[in-house]
Amino acid sequence: MAIRKIRELGDDVLTKTCKSVPKMTLRTKILIGDMFDTMYHAAGVGLAAPQVGVLKRIVTIDVGEGPIVLINPEIIETSGEQTGEEGCLSIPGKAGTVTRPNYVKVRALNEDMEEIELEGEELLARAFCHEIDHLDGKVYVELAEGGLYDVTAETEGEE
Ligand code: NI
Repeated sequence: MAIRKIRELGDDVLTKTCKSVPKMTLRTKILIGDMFDTMYHAAGVGLAAPQVGVLKRIVTIDVGEGPIVLINPEIIETSGEQTGEEGCLSIPGKAGTVTRPNYVKVRALNEDMEEIELEGEELLARAFCHEIDHLDGKVYVELAEGGLYDVTAETEGEE
């Protein structure tokens, strides 16, 4: 496994719509392992494949409750609302205030290509929304109320 280069805002790859993953391959398994390595190395709680330059619908998340892989994820239910700080490993040193649903249910495939449904609240719900947006070429900048602000390394809550 290896740490991959994280693409930053301004890179075209972050604006593209990603393709569904039709089957698990060795190449995709290696990608997922590398995404976790890259995400943990950067102290992020989530990473989407386009952030390492791969236009596939794959997300890795760990909000401190263990690693989650989502392949071809879809949001199937949301409720409530939360407004809070959001960051992105593709926009280092910045954060913004973003309103998201407080509860999100996703349907996806796991690493064995089995269908799973996961529920998240608060940070996990935010991570589901943020990372799935990346798969459709969306970054949180357009959702940040009042634009982005600088954050120090100690308070960074990057996703
Ligand atoms: Ni992000």
